[in-house]
Amino acid sequence: MNLAPPLDDALKDALDRAADEMPSAAQRRPDPLALVIFGASGDLASRKLLPALARQARLGHLPDGFSVVGVARSIMGDDGFRDLCRGVEGAEDNPRWDQFAGRFRYVAGDYGDPATFEQLASVLADVDVTCGTAGNRVYYLATNPDLFGTVARGLAAFKANEPGSGGSFARLVVEKPFGIDLDSARQLDRELHECFHEEQIFRIDHYMGKETVQNVLALRFANAIFEPIWNRRYVDHVQVTVAEELGVEHRGNFYEHAGALRDIVQNHVMQVLALTLMEPPATMEGNSIRDEKVKVLRSVVIPGSDQEVDRVVRAQYVRGKANEIELPGYREEEGVDPASLTETYVAMQLAVDNWRWAGVPIFVRTGKRLVRRETQVVMVFQRPPHLPFAGQLTRDLSTDALVLRIQPDEGISLCFGAKVPGPSFTVRTVSMDFSYSQAFPGGTAEAYERLLLDAMTGDPMLFIRTDEVEQAWHIVAPIQDAFAEGEPPLARYPVGTWGPIEADRLIESSNRQWRTP
Ligand code: BG6
Repeated sequence: MNLAPPLDDALKDALDRAADEMPSAAQRRPDPLALVIFGASGDLASRKLLPALARQARLGHLPDGFSVVGVARSIMGDDGFRDLCRGVEGAEDNPRWDQFAGRFRYVAGDYGDPATFEQLASVLADVDVTCGTAGNRVYYLATNPDLFGTVARGLAAFKANEPGSGGSFARLVVEKPFGIDLDSARQLDRELHECFHEEQIFRIDHYMGKETVQNVLALRFANAIFEPIWNRRYVDHVQVTVAEELGVEHRGNFYEHAGALRDIVQNHVMQVLALTLMEPPATMEGNSIRDEKVKVLRSVVIPGSDQEVDRVVRAQYVRGKANEIELPGYREEEGVDPASLTETYVAMQLAVDNWRWAGVPIFVRTGKRLVRRETQVVMVFQRPPHLPFAGQLTRDLSTDALVLRIQPDEGISLCFGAKVPGPSFTVRTVSMDFSYSQAFPGGTAEAYERLLLDAMTGDPMLFIRTDEVEQAWHIVAPIQDAFAEGEPPLARYPVGTWGPIEADRLIESSNRQWRTP
């Protein structure tokens, strides 16, 4: 058995001092643990998970007793995996990560083969001794979703799903998609719950790890000035835009079976909406927030429950120019059926039937290959009851709005009317801006850094509970059914635009307009 080299003492002292100077980081340092990544040779591990860990190592957030055990089908030894880990973004000039990586282990094998889990169990027992990981485990499912149940069963067969007798923990982190519809989501949950308790399961929606998404909670509940107007008396309507400039890249095969509704609306949009519209939680404790999120999701009127699914637009991008460059349409992308009916854009109007939001339309749109990457929530306020200015003086005055810019230019803008200097009483819209990068020049952490740290410390607040997943599927189910039957007809939009004309008509039919970012 190889004993891993202890962390260099001087380096350890320096990092401990740094952690002490950052109280939040020091308080959040997880207990010793082994992080087992299933799908360790894949894209998610090398693009997101390992770089997030490397950054945490640099910041001194990882416990001394820490190791990563990679599991995947690719043939590779411990050294190959260590090289992979040392080559990820954030690994350069990072001596602590370099030292950690020297202890990492790798198990090559098939997830359906008990021998893989037998070998994993023996490696983990070894790592407890060599790296001091104290029997604590976080299992991260970064594999193809079809394998989630198989891996959970493989772990259970070796009792790796059970917390140890000495109080050690075993947690399971699950990546989206959680099923492809309500039935498959329930089936997946049954499979996971056969092996793990709900409290052990940490479902990731990476939008919940974004600082600006969490800041919706701070804005609403750490201030007294917004909450009194956060309701139907002052808000005319709400808009959520998740716009992407990228197309499907090399994921055509995957995307063909997903589409914008499953890929973005069922998860990211529903999470952002839930935080924006929910009631104040009693505390910031995980279940307190999740109770409120699920409550408001239950108040979303299920489209089609009392009417046809007619407030929905689905569309696909066609060849066009973006920034002077001609780009192919969706049907021309690699891995995509040339007659595909998969939607790359969805717009819809939702309603929330509760005391706070009754009668306030919620407009949502998301799409790929739009003008630029931009995610934002806009609370559009009602017009003043009477404008005492002559008509043309307010020509450039739009309704007041609070814009929560989730990405990429993270911040908040309050748009309101101001007098234009000069002899006339012309009023036009101006904006007051808060910018994250100016207020907090240190930069914000990547979503996966926060989520990994929370999974390792066992804080469930930002993870998605089973009832939330189910309710979000309930909301989109009738729309999925309608899409499957070819309704509404698939619209088209050229690459590099803000989407199809049908989406403009959707919102304009109620005398409103999209707030183009
Ligand atoms: C993922 C989707 O969940 O989110 C992708 O599968 C999408 O299709 C991505 O591109 C968007 O995430 P972000 O953080 O870039 O907004």
